[in-house]
Amino acid sequence: MKRILIKNGIVTDDRTSAKADVLIEDGLIKAVGDVIEPSSGDEVIDAAGMYVMPGLIDAHTHYHLVSRGTVTCDSFPEGSRLAAFGGVTTVIDFADHNKGQDLLQSLAYRQEEMAGKMAIDYTLHQGVYGHGYDSTIGSQLEKLKAKGVKTLKIFTTYRNVGYLIENRDDLLDLFRNARRLGMLVCAHCEFNPMIEEISDNWKGDFSPASHALLRPAEAEGKAIEHFGSIALEADCPLYVVHCSSECGLNAIRELRKKGLVVYAETTPHYLFLDRSRLDGPDGSLYVMTPPLREKKDNVALQEGILEKEFQVVATDHCAFTRDQKLSSSDCRTIYPGIPGTEEMLVLLNTFRENHPGMTMSDLVNLISCEPAKLFGIYPTKGSLEVGTDADITIFDPSVRWTLSDDNVHSASHYTPYRGFEVHGKVRTTILRGKVIMNDGKYFGVPGEGRFIDQH
Ligand code: URP
Ligand code: ZN
Ligand code: ZN
Repeated sequence: MKRILIKNGIVTDDRTSAKADVLIEDGLIKAVGDVIEPSSGDEVIDAAGMYVMPGLIDAHTHYHLVSRGTVTCDSFPEGSRLAAFGGVTTVIDFADHNKGQDLLQSLAYRQEEMAGKMAIDYTLHQGVYGHGYDSTIGSQLEKLKAKGVKTLKIFTTYRNVGYLIENRDDLLDLFRNARRLGMLVCAHCEFNPMIEEISDNWKGDFSPASHALLRPAEAEGKAIEHFGSIALEADCPLYVVHCSSECGLNAIRELRKKGLVVYAETTPHYLFLDRSRLDGPDGSLYVMTPPLREKKDNVALQEGILEKEFQVVATDHCAFTRDQKLSSSDCRTIYPGIPGTEEMLVLLNTFRENHPGMTMSDLVNLISCEPAKLFGIYPTKGSLEVGTDADITIFDPSVRWTLSDDNVHSASHYTPYRGFEVHGKVRTTILRGKVIMNDGKYFGVPGEGRFIDQH
Protein backbone atom coordinates (compact mmCIF):
# COMPACT_ATOMS: atom_id res chain seq x y z
CA MET A 1 0.00 0.00 0.00
CA LYS A 2 1.34 3.43 -1.03
CA ARG A 3 2.35 5.79 1.78
CA ILE A 4 0.31 8.97 1.98
CA LEU A 5 1.69 12.24 3.30
CA ILE A 6 -0.90 14.90 4.17
CA LYS A 7 0.91 18.23 4.21
CA ASN A 8 0.15 21.68 5.60
CA GLY A 9 -3.23 20.89 7.16
CA ILE A 10 -4.61 22.09 10.47
CA VAL A 11 -4.35 18.85 12.39
CA THR A 12 -7.18 18.76 14.88
CA ASP A 13 -8.21 16.37 17.59
CA ASP A 14 -10.06 16.92 20.87
CA ARG A 15 -7.02 18.59 22.45
CA THR A 16 -5.19 20.58 19.80
CA SER A 17 -5.65 22.21 16.44
CA ALA A 18 -2.38 23.25 14.81
CA LYS A 19 -0.57 23.18 11.50
CA ALA A 20 1.23 19.85 10.99
CA ASP A 21 1.85 17.02 8.53
CA VAL A 22 0.53 13.47 8.86
CA LEU A 23 2.24 10.42 7.39
CA ILE A 24 0.27 7.23 6.72
CA GLU A 25 1.87 3.85 6.13
CA ASP A 26 0.30 0.40 5.89
CA GLY A 27 -3.09 1.72 6.91
CA LEU A 28 -1.80 3.23 10.14
CA ILE A 29 -0.72 6.68 11.26
CA LYS A 30 3.04 6.53 11.05
CA ALA A 31 3.94 10.06 12.18
CA VAL A 32 2.48 13.45 12.97
CA GLY A 33 4.96 16.34 12.94
CA ASP A 34 5.57 20.00 12.20
CA VAL A 35 7.24 19.24 8.89
CA ILE A 36 7.58 15.77 7.38
CA GLU A 37 9.44 15.49 4.09
CA PRO A 38 8.10 13.07 1.47
CA SER A 39 10.08 10.06 0.31
CA SER A 40 10.03 9.05 -3.32
CA GLY A 41 6.84 7.20 -4.19
CA ASP A 42 4.78 8.84 -1.43
CA GLU A 43 1.41 10.19 -2.47
CA VAL A 44 1.30 13.78 -1.21
CA ILE A 45 -2.00 15.48 -0.40
CA ASP A 46 -1.83 19.24 0.06
CA ALA A 47 -4.29 20.15 2.82
CA ALA A 48 -3.32 23.82 3.16
CA GLY A 49 -6.17 25.73 4.80
CA MET A 50 -8.02 22.52 5.60
CA TYR A 51 -8.72 20.66 8.82
CA VAL A 52 -7.21 17.20 9.12
CA MET A 53 -9.11 15.28 11.75
CA PRO A 54 -9.71 11.74 12.94
CA GLY A 55 -12.30 10.00 10.79
CA LEU A 56 -15.76 10.89 12.03
CA ILE A 57 -18.01 8.46 13.84
CA ASP A 58 -21.77 8.44 13.52
CA ALA A 59 -22.64 6.62 16.73
CA HIS A 60 -26.33 6.15 15.92
CA THR A 61 -27.35 4.78 12.53
CA HIS A 62 -30.01 2.44 11.22
CA TYR A 63 -28.68 1.30 7.86
CA HIS A 64 -30.78 -1.49 6.38
CA LEU A 65 -33.35 -1.44 9.18
CA VAL A 66 -36.04 -4.01 8.54
CA SER A 67 -39.14 -2.81 10.36
CA ARG A 68 -42.89 -2.28 9.92
CA GLY A 69 -42.99 -4.46 6.82
CA THR A 70 -40.39 -2.45 4.92
CA VAL A 71 -36.68 -1.70 4.91
CA THR A 72 -34.83 1.60 5.06
CA CYS A 73 -33.53 2.71 1.68
CA ASP A 74 -29.91 3.20 2.72
CA SER A 75 -28.62 -0.30 3.09
CA PHE A 76 -24.99 -1.02 3.98
CA PRO A 77 -23.32 -0.04 0.68
CA GLU A 78 -25.48 3.08 0.32
CA GLY A 79 -24.93 4.03 3.95
CA SER A 80 -21.16 3.59 3.59
CA ARG A 81 -21.12 5.76 0.49
CA LEU A 82 -23.08 8.68 1.88
CA ALA A 83 -21.08 8.44 5.11
CA ALA A 84 -17.82 8.78 3.17
CA PHE A 85 -19.17 11.96 1.54
CA GLY A 86 -19.83 13.26 5.05
CA GLY A 87 -16.33 12.39 6.31
CA VAL A 88 -17.61 9.48 8.41
CA THR A 89 -15.35 6.42 8.53
CA THR A 90 -17.08 4.44 11.28
CA VAL A 91 -20.72 3.99 12.18
CA ILE A 92 -22.26 2.37 15.20
CA ASP A 93 -25.41 0.67 14.04
CA PHE A 94 -27.85 -1.58 15.92
CA ALA A 95 -28.48 -5.27 16.26
CA ASP A 96 -32.15 -5.81 17.03
CA HIS A 97 -33.02 -8.32 19.73
CA ASN A 98 -34.83 -10.71 17.43
CA LYS A 99 -37.91 -12.63 18.53
CA GLY A 100 -36.97 -16.23 19.31
CA GLN A 101 -33.25 -15.45 19.45
CA ASP A 102 -31.00 -14.67 22.39
CA LEU A 103 -28.57 -11.75 22.30
CA LEU A 104 -25.74 -13.80 20.84
CA GLN A 105 -27.88 -15.15 18.05
CA SER A 106 -29.29 -11.68 17.39
CA LEU A 107 -25.81 -10.21 17.16
CA ALA A 108 -24.63 -13.00 14.86
CA TYR A 109 -27.70 -12.44 12.67
CA ARG A 110 -26.92 -8.73 12.26
CA GLN A 111 -23.22 -9.36 11.65
CA GLU A 112 -24.13 -11.88 8.98
CA GLU A 113 -26.48 -9.33 7.36
CA MET A 114 -23.67 -6.78 7.25
CA ALA A 115 -20.86 -9.11 6.23
CA GLY A 116 -19.29 -8.18 2.93
CA LYS A 117 -21.46 -5.10 2.47
CA MET A 118 -19.96 -2.24 4.46
CA ALA A 119 -17.29 -0.08 2.84
CA ILE A 120 -16.52 1.78 6.08
CA ASP A 121 -15.82 0.36 9.53
CA TYR A 122 -18.58 -0.34 12.00
CA THR A 123 -19.56 -1.74 15.33
CA LEU A 124 -22.92 -2.41 16.92
CA HIS A 125 -25.12 -1.55 19.86
CA GLN A 126 -27.05 -4.65 20.92
CA GLY A 127 -30.78 -4.21 21.56
CA VAL A 128 -32.17 -5.82 24.71
CA TYR A 129 -35.94 -6.02 24.41
CA GLY A 130 -38.73 -7.00 26.74
CA HIS A 131 -39.95 -9.89 24.61
CA GLY A 132 -36.67 -11.75 24.97
CA TYR A 133 -35.75 -10.76 28.52
CA ASP A 134 -35.12 -13.62 30.95
CA SER A 135 -32.98 -14.58 33.92
CA THR A 136 -30.05 -15.66 31.72
CA ILE A 137 -29.36 -12.03 30.83
CA GLY A 138 -26.17 -11.87 32.94
CA SER A 139 -24.52 -14.77 31.16
CA GLN A 140 -25.75 -13.55 27.77
CA LEU A 141 -24.13 -10.17 28.43
CA GLU A 142 -20.86 -11.84 29.43
CA LYS A 143 -20.79 -13.69 26.12
CA LEU A 144 -21.76 -10.54 24.23
CA LYS A 145 -18.83 -8.69 25.74
CA ALA A 146 -16.53 -11.52 24.71
CA LYS A 147 -17.81 -11.02 21.16
CA GLY A 148 -16.72 -7.37 21.23
CA VAL A 149 -20.04 -5.65 21.94
CA LYS A 150 -20.28 -3.64 25.14
CA THR A 151 -23.11 -1.24 24.45
CA LEU A 152 -26.75 -2.11 24.93
CA LYS A 153 -29.84 -0.37 23.63
CA ILE A 154 -33.11 -0.34 25.49
CA PHE A 155 -36.44 1.27 24.67
CA THR A 156 -38.70 2.94 27.20
CA THR A 157 -41.61 2.76 24.76
CA TYR A 158 -42.98 0.56 21.95
CA ARG A 159 -44.72 -1.81 24.38
CA ASN A 160 -46.98 -2.96 21.52
CA VAL A 161 -44.08 -4.51 19.61
CA GLY A 162 -42.47 -6.04 22.67
CA TYR A 163 -39.46 -3.73 22.92
CA LEU A 164 -40.25 -2.26 26.33
CA ILE A 165 -38.84 -4.02 29.40
CA GLU A 166 -41.77 -3.29 31.70
CA ASN A 167 -40.74 -4.84 34.96
CA ARG A 168 -38.67 -2.53 37.18
CA ASP A 169 -36.79 -5.45 38.77
CA ASP A 170 -35.76 -6.69 35.34
CA LEU A 171 -34.42 -3.25 34.48
CA LEU A 172 -32.59 -3.02 37.77
CA ASP A 173 -31.08 -6.43 37.08
CA LEU A 174 -30.04 -5.28 33.60
CA PHE A 175 -28.37 -2.13 34.91
CA ARG A 176 -26.63 -4.11 37.69
CA ASN A 177 -25.28 -6.60 35.18
CA ALA A 178 -24.16 -3.76 32.91
CA ARG A 179 -22.33 -2.17 35.81
CA ARG A 180 -20.71 -5.47 36.79
CA LEU A 181 -19.47 -6.00 33.25
CA GLY A 182 -18.60 -2.38 32.42
CA MET A 183 -21.19 -2.23 29.65
CA LEU A 184 -23.01 0.94 28.68
CA VAL A 185 -26.82 1.07 28.58
CA CYS A 186 -28.17 3.43 25.92
CA ALA A 187 -31.83 4.35 26.23
CA HIS A 188 -34.42 5.70 23.81
CA CYS A 189 -36.39 7.81 26.28
CA GLU A 190 -40.13 8.32 25.87
CA PHE A 191 -42.28 7.34 28.84
CA ASN A 192 -44.67 4.73 27.55
CA PRO A 193 -47.51 5.09 30.10
CA MET A 194 -47.77 8.81 29.26
CA ILE A 195 -47.76 8.14 25.52
CA GLU A 196 -50.39 5.42 25.82
CA GLU A 197 -52.61 7.63 27.98
CA ILE A 198 -52.45 10.53 25.53
CA SER A 199 -53.16 8.21 22.65
CA ASP A 200 -56.12 6.54 24.42
CA ASN A 201 -57.76 9.93 25.05
CA TRP A 202 -56.82 11.53 21.74
CA LYS A 203 -59.66 13.39 20.00
CA GLY A 204 -57.54 15.06 17.31
CA ASP A 205 -56.47 13.91 13.88
CA PHE A 206 -53.42 11.81 13.04
CA SER A 207 -51.70 14.22 10.70
CA PRO A 208 -47.89 14.47 10.83
CA ALA A 209 -48.25 17.56 13.04
CA SER A 210 -50.17 15.52 15.61
CA HIS A 211 -47.18 13.20 16.03
CA ALA A 212 -45.50 15.93 18.08
CA LEU A 213 -48.52 16.20 20.39
CA LEU A 214 -48.98 12.47 20.77
CA ARG A 215 -45.35 12.06 21.88
CA PRO A 216 -44.62 15.27 23.84
CA ALA A 217 -41.36 16.49 25.30
CA GLU A 218 -42.69 15.77 28.80
CA ALA A 219 -42.70 12.06 27.93
CA GLU A 220 -38.98 12.31 27.21
CA GLY A 221 -38.28 14.11 30.47
CA LYS A 222 -40.35 11.60 32.45
CA ALA A 223 -38.63 8.59 30.86
CA ILE A 224 -35.19 10.00 31.61
CA GLU A 225 -36.24 10.65 35.20
CA HIS A 226 -37.77 7.19 35.62
CA PHE A 227 -35.07 5.11 33.94
CA GLY A 228 -32.42 7.33 35.49
CA SER A 229 -33.76 6.50 38.94
CA ILE A 230 -33.25 2.80 38.20
CA ALA A 231 -29.75 3.43 36.87
CA LEU A 232 -29.03 5.45 39.99
CA GLU A 233 -30.17 2.59 42.22
CA ALA A 234 -27.85 0.27 40.32
CA ASP A 235 -25.10 2.91 40.35
CA CYS A 236 -24.71 2.36 36.62
CA PRO A 237 -24.06 5.12 34.07
CA LEU A 238 -26.80 5.88 31.56
CA TYR A 239 -26.44 7.03 27.95
CA VAL A 240 -29.47 8.94 26.67
CA VAL A 241 -29.81 8.65 22.89
CA HIS A 242 -31.24 11.41 20.71
CA CYS A 243 -32.27 13.89 23.41
CA SER A 244 -34.82 16.07 21.64
CA SER A 245 -36.05 18.64 24.13
CA GLU A 246 -35.28 21.14 26.84
CA CYS A 247 -37.42 18.99 29.12
CA GLY A 248 -35.19 16.00 28.39
CA LEU A 249 -32.05 18.02 28.97
CA ASN A 250 -33.43 19.32 32.26
CA ALA A 251 -34.10 15.75 33.39
CA ILE A 252 -30.49 14.86 32.52
CA ARG A 253 -29.30 17.83 34.58
CA GLU A 254 -31.36 16.67 37.55
CA LEU A 255 -29.92 13.17 37.39
CA ARG A 256 -26.41 14.54 37.23
CA LYS A 257 -27.12 16.65 40.30
CA LYS A 258 -28.11 13.44 42.08
CA GLY A 259 -24.73 11.95 41.20
CA LEU A 260 -25.59 9.73 38.23
CA VAL A 261 -23.15 9.63 35.35
CA VAL A 262 -25.34 10.48 32.36
CA TYR A 263 -23.90 10.65 28.86
CA ALA A 264 -26.10 12.63 26.52
CA GLU A 265 -26.45 12.46 22.75
CA THR A 266 -28.44 14.77 20.55
CA THR A 267 -28.85 14.95 16.79
CA PRO A 268 -28.65 17.64 14.10
CA HIS A 269 -32.42 17.48 13.54
CA TYR A 270 -33.25 18.28 17.15
CA LEU A 271 -30.69 21.09 17.07
CA PHE A 272 -31.70 22.69 13.78
CA LEU A 273 -35.26 21.67 12.81
CA ASP A 274 -38.49 22.39 14.62
CA ARG A 275 -41.97 20.98 14.50
CA SER A 276 -43.33 23.55 12.05
CA ARG A 277 -41.78 21.21 9.43
CA LEU A 278 -44.57 18.76 10.16
CA ASP A 279 -47.16 21.17 8.79
CA GLY A 280 -47.92 21.13 5.11
CA PRO A 281 -48.11 18.53 2.36
CA ASP A 282 -44.65 17.07 2.88
CA GLY A 283 -44.87 16.92 6.70
CA SER A 284 -44.41 13.14 6.52
CA LEU A 285 -40.80 13.69 5.39
CA TYR A 286 -40.02 15.10 8.84
CA VAL A 287 -41.58 12.41 10.99
CA MET A 288 -39.22 10.62 13.32
CA THR A 289 -39.43 9.43 16.90
CA PRO A 290 -39.13 11.32 19.20
CA PRO A 291 -40.74 14.08 17.12
CA LEU A 292 -39.36 17.49 16.26
CA ARG A 293 -40.01 20.04 19.01
CA GLU A 294 -40.31 23.81 19.38
CA LYS A 295 -37.76 26.45 18.40
CA LYS A 296 -37.10 27.01 22.11
CA ASP A 297 -36.00 23.38 22.32
CA ASN A 298 -33.55 23.92 19.43
CA VAL A 299 -32.11 26.84 21.37
CA ALA A 300 -31.90 24.93 24.66
CA LEU A 301 -30.12 22.00 23.00
CA GLN A 302 -27.74 24.34 21.17
CA GLU A 303 -26.88 25.93 24.51
CA GLY A 304 -26.34 22.43 25.85
CA ILE A 305 -23.81 21.84 23.08
CA LEU A 306 -22.00 25.10 23.84
CA GLU A 307 -21.99 24.31 27.57
CA LYS A 308 -20.61 20.80 26.87
CA GLU A 309 -23.63 19.12 28.42
CA PHE A 310 -23.74 16.77 25.45
CA GLN A 311 -20.93 14.28 24.92
CA VAL A 312 -22.01 13.07 21.49
CA VAL A 313 -23.83 14.28 18.42
CA ALA A 314 -25.00 11.43 16.20
CA THR A 315 -27.68 11.34 13.53
CA ASP A 316 -30.15 8.47 14.06
CA HIS A 317 -29.86 8.10 10.27
CA CYS A 318 -32.91 6.04 9.34
CA ALA A 319 -33.75 6.90 5.75
CA PHE A 320 -36.79 6.13 3.67
CA THR A 321 -37.43 7.31 0.12
CA ARG A 322 -39.86 10.16 -0.47
CA ASP A 323 -42.30 7.58 -1.82
CA GLN A 324 -41.99 5.47 1.32
CA LYS A 325 -42.40 8.51 3.57
CA LEU A 326 -45.29 10.00 1.62
CA SER A 327 -47.11 6.68 1.27
CA SER A 328 -48.95 7.62 4.47
CA SER A 329 -50.03 10.91 5.98
CA ASP A 330 -51.21 9.20 9.17
CA CYS A 331 -48.56 9.67 11.82
CA ARG A 332 -49.28 6.20 13.24
CA THR A 333 -48.16 4.55 10.03
CA ILE A 334 -45.63 6.97 8.47
CA TYR A 335 -42.27 5.21 8.54
CA PRO A 336 -40.34 7.08 11.23
CA GLY A 337 -36.83 8.35 10.60
CA ILE A 338 -34.82 10.66 8.37
CA PRO A 339 -31.37 10.69 6.75
CA GLY A 340 -28.53 12.65 8.34
CA THR A 341 -25.07 11.05 8.45
CA GLU A 342 -23.78 12.99 5.46
CA GLU A 343 -25.02 16.37 6.67
CA MET A 344 -23.77 16.02 10.27
CA LEU A 345 -20.36 17.67 9.94
CA VAL A 346 -21.34 20.57 7.70
CA LEU A 347 -24.35 21.45 9.86
CA LEU A 348 -22.30 21.40 13.02
CA ASN A 349 -19.44 23.32 11.48
CA THR A 350 -21.86 26.01 10.33
CA PHE A 351 -23.20 26.23 13.88
CA ARG A 352 -19.63 26.38 15.21
CA GLU A 353 -18.70 29.24 12.91
CA ASN A 354 -21.70 31.19 14.20
CA HIS A 355 -20.69 30.50 17.82
CA PRO A 356 -17.07 31.49 18.35
CA GLY A 357 -17.03 29.93 21.84
CA MET A 358 -17.04 26.51 20.18
CA THR A 359 -13.71 25.33 18.82
CA MET A 360 -12.97 22.86 16.05
CA SER A 361 -11.57 20.56 18.76
CA ASP A 362 -14.94 20.71 20.54
CA LEU A 363 -16.62 19.71 17.30
CA VAL A 364 -14.21 16.85 16.59
CA ASN A 365 -14.68 15.67 20.14
CA LEU A 366 -18.47 15.41 19.73
CA ILE A 367 -18.43 13.45 16.49
CA SER A 368 -15.24 11.44 16.72
CA CYS A 369 -13.16 11.31 19.92
CA GLU A 370 -15.87 11.07 22.55
CA PRO A 371 -18.05 8.48 20.81
CA ALA A 372 -14.91 6.40 20.24
CA LYS A 373 -14.09 6.60 23.94
CA LEU A 374 -17.61 5.90 25.21
CA PHE A 375 -18.16 2.98 22.87
CA GLY A 376 -14.82 1.31 23.46
CA ILE A 377 -13.09 1.80 20.12
CA TYR A 378 -10.60 4.51 21.13
CA PRO A 379 -7.78 5.17 20.23
CA THR A 380 -8.03 2.82 17.23
CA LYS A 381 -10.82 5.13 16.12
CA GLY A 382 -11.35 8.76 17.10
CA SER A 383 -7.68 9.65 17.46
CA LEU A 384 -4.65 10.67 15.42
CA GLU A 385 -2.23 8.76 17.64
CA VAL A 386 0.74 7.16 15.96
CA GLY A 387 0.13 3.45 15.41
CA THR A 388 -3.67 3.72 15.22
CA ASP A 389 -5.94 3.28 12.21
CA ALA A 390 -5.34 5.97 9.60
CA ASP A 391 -8.98 7.05 9.39
CA ILE A 392 -8.81 10.70 8.41
CA THR A 393 -11.25 13.36 7.29
CA ILE A 394 -9.90 16.35 5.39
CA PHE A 395 -12.34 19.22 5.61
CA ASP A 396 -12.22 22.48 3.67
CA PRO A 397 -13.88 25.18 5.79
CA SER A 398 -13.79 27.79 3.03
CA VAL A 399 -16.46 26.25 0.82
CA ARG A 400 -19.98 27.68 1.04
CA TRP A 401 -22.82 25.68 -0.43
CA THR A 402 -26.52 25.03 -0.08
CA LEU A 403 -27.84 21.60 0.80
CA SER A 404 -30.34 20.34 -1.72
CA ASP A 405 -31.94 17.04 -2.66
CA ASP A 406 -29.55 16.84 -5.62
CA ASN A 407 -26.22 17.27 -3.84
CA VAL A 408 -26.47 14.65 -1.10
CA HIS A 409 -26.08 10.92 -1.59
CA SER A 410 -28.77 9.14 0.43
CA ALA A 411 -30.95 6.80 -1.60
CA SER A 412 -33.86 8.67 -0.03
CA HIS A 413 -33.17 11.39 -2.62
CA TYR A 414 -34.04 14.12 -0.19
CA THR A 415 -32.41 16.01 2.62
CA PRO A 416 -34.42 17.33 5.55
CA TYR A 417 -31.98 20.26 5.49
CA ARG A 418 -32.84 21.37 1.96
CA GLY A 419 -32.03 25.08 1.58
CA PHE A 420 -29.58 25.21 4.51
CA GLU A 421 -26.52 27.26 3.57
CA VAL A 422 -23.58 25.44 5.06
CA HIS A 423 -19.94 26.23 5.72
CA GLY A 424 -17.31 23.74 4.68
CA LYS A 425 -17.13 20.57 2.67
CA VAL A 426 -15.36 17.26 3.09
CA ARG A 427 -12.53 17.13 0.58
CA THR A 428 -11.10 13.68 1.30
CA THR A 429 -12.08 10.70 3.45
CA ILE A 430 -9.47 8.08 4.26
CA LEU A 431 -10.23 4.69 5.79
CA ARG A 432 -7.26 2.75 7.19
CA GLY A 433 -4.91 4.47 4.79
CA LYS A 434 -7.07 4.16 1.68
CA VAL A 435 -8.77 7.15 0.09
CA ILE A 436 -12.46 6.24 -0.12
CA MET A 437 -13.74 9.67 -1.18
CA ASN A 438 -11.91 12.50 -2.83
CA ASP A 439 -13.23 15.67 -4.38
CA GLY A 440 -16.72 14.27 -4.87
CA LYS A 441 -15.60 10.87 -6.19
CA TYR A 442 -16.25 7.72 -4.25
CA PHE A 443 -13.81 4.80 -4.12
CA GLY A 444 -15.25 2.71 -1.28
CA VAL A 445 -15.59 -1.02 -1.80
CA PRO A 446 -18.38 -2.97 -0.08
CA GLY A 447 -16.77 -5.66 2.02
CA GLU A 448 -13.69 -3.63 2.89
CA GLY A 449 -15.37 -2.23 6.02
CA ARG A 450 -14.45 -4.13 9.18
CA PHE A 451 -16.32 -4.89 12.37
CA ILE A 452 -14.48 -3.17 15.23
CA ASP A 453 -14.47 -4.90 18.62
CA GLN A 454 -15.37 -2.73 21.60
CA HIS A 455 -13.00 -3.06 24.53
O1 URP B 1 -37.75 7.54 14.10
C1 URP B 1 -36.69 7.01 14.38
N1 URP B 1 -35.84 7.60 15.15
N2 URP B 1 -36.38 5.82 13.88
C2 URP B 1 -35.26 5.06 14.23
C3 URP B 1 -35.48 4.22 15.44
C4 URP B 1 -35.24 4.96 16.74
O2 URP B 1 -36.12 4.99 17.56
O3 URP B 1 -34.15 5.49 16.96
ZN1 ZN C 1 -34.67 5.88 19.16
ZN1 ZN D 1 -32.36 5.30 16.46
